[in-house]
Amino acid sequence: MEKIKVGVIGTGFIGPAHIEALRRLGKVEVVALAESSDKLAESKAQMLQIDRHYGDYRLLLKDKDIQSVHICSPNYLHYEMARAALQEGKHVICEKPLAVSVHQAEELVELADKKGLVNAVNFNIRYYPLMRQLRLMVDKGDMGQIFAVQGSYLQDWLFHPTDYNWRLEPDQSGQSRAIADIGSHWMDLIEYVTHLKITELCADFATFHKIRKKPLKPVETYAGKVLSPKDYQDVPINTEDYATVLLRFENDGRGVMTVNQVAAGRKNRLYFELDGSRQAVAWESETPNQIWIGHRDGNNEILMRDPSLVYPDCKNLIDYPGGHNEGFPDTFKQLLKEVYAQISGRAFGPPSYPTFADGLREMVLCEAIMDSNSKRTWVKVG
Ligand SMILES: NC(=O)c1ccc[n+]([C@@H]2O[C@H](COP(=O)([O-])OP(=O)(O)OC[C@H]3O[C@@H](n4cnc5c(N)ncnc54)[C@H](O)[C@@H]3O)[C@@H](O)[C@H]2O)c1
Repeated sequence: MEKIKVGVIGTGFIGPAHIEALRRLGKVEVVALAESSDKLAESKAQMLQIDRHYGDYRLLLKDKDIQSVHICSPNYLHYEMARAALQEGKHVICEKPLAVSVHQAEELVELADKKGLVNAVNFNIRYYPLMRQLRLMVDKGDMGQIFAVQGSYLQDWLFHPTDYNWRLEPDQSGQSRAIADIGSHWMDLIEYVTHLKITELCADFATFHKIRKKPLKPVETYAGKVLSPKDYQDVPINTEDYATVLLRFENDGRGVMTVNQVAAGRKNRLYFELDGSRQAVAWESETPNQIWIGHRDGNNEILMRDPSLVYPDCKNLIDYPGGHNEGFPDTFKQLLKEVYAQISGRAFGPPSYPTFADGLREMVLCEAIMDSNSKRTWVKVG
């Protein structure tokens, strides 16, 4: 059977996660990768066992065999790469954030629509199966009216002033850091599970490490070695380590989100709680196979990720029985399963996966949040 041929641009942390998930799908074949130089492309191709490699992504886009492209490069490159890929007639699966401005994201939505190509943004957290279950619970009225939403996305990988990455540099990451990088996942997820749009917000940012120490050589070079002060350069930091955002939803519900990339011990913890008029639920990404359900007049419950316990429309996201835990890599597989069903013409109706329109929505929220923080006031979401 002919497989769909795929190219992957950027093979740092997340590119290989896409490649692994694509290989688990079976019906697609990763035939090429592109990296920032020929040398890096060649070594990554060898490591990842991929035949074709390019030191310039534009050459990958000229490869006629390739039908779809995954963009896994730093944020500032997403727009130019997605635009070029669409112009070459490729379907595009782009990492979040879709772009670094609303204007760029709008252009991509319009172009993808004009070209009639499949377009997706990797808001993979939606694909923990219990998030689909929760969306169905909201649909079916199990929650009643949603009064309030609160939660956070906490990480500690930037805890030390010596922690450094391209995400700290606005020309590579965009003007927002914690909100664009992890707040975007939280807001996408909340709007997805609740079906409620955020209409107004009030944000407060903080940058705790105002100066960070940038290693003067690639960090890998130092693996296992102790760095001395001369190995670093002081760099002023002007993007947020932390943000709290008060939210109002279209149903007059209220919310609050905190994001923090310097929260010791929290490796990668997205948490939220929805308080509804019938019951409450809580979920966290570090224990993704269960939902807590809270009741006022009876015992609280734990719903386990088990195909026999969820609504029928959630079952297709569960590939293993209860107790056989599914996690982060599985979310990529499940998202891509739905995207490639669309590409191969086996999906009917509107896309079930996050599209460029969802990527644009996150850019709109992100810009409203930055605007609110800089004006120190409530802002309506445009
Ligand atoms: N959905 C998720 O859960 C998730 C998780 C992590 C990262 N991401 C997103 O994935 C993207 C990449 O993040 P990462 O953590 O993998 O970063 P990374 O730095 O580990 O990897 C980026 C890769 O892109 C390559 N690259 C840079 N310039 C390039 C160019 N011109 N052409 C081709 N390749 C180029 C780099 O060499 C590197 O290999 C970011 O946009 C980030 O927001 C998403």
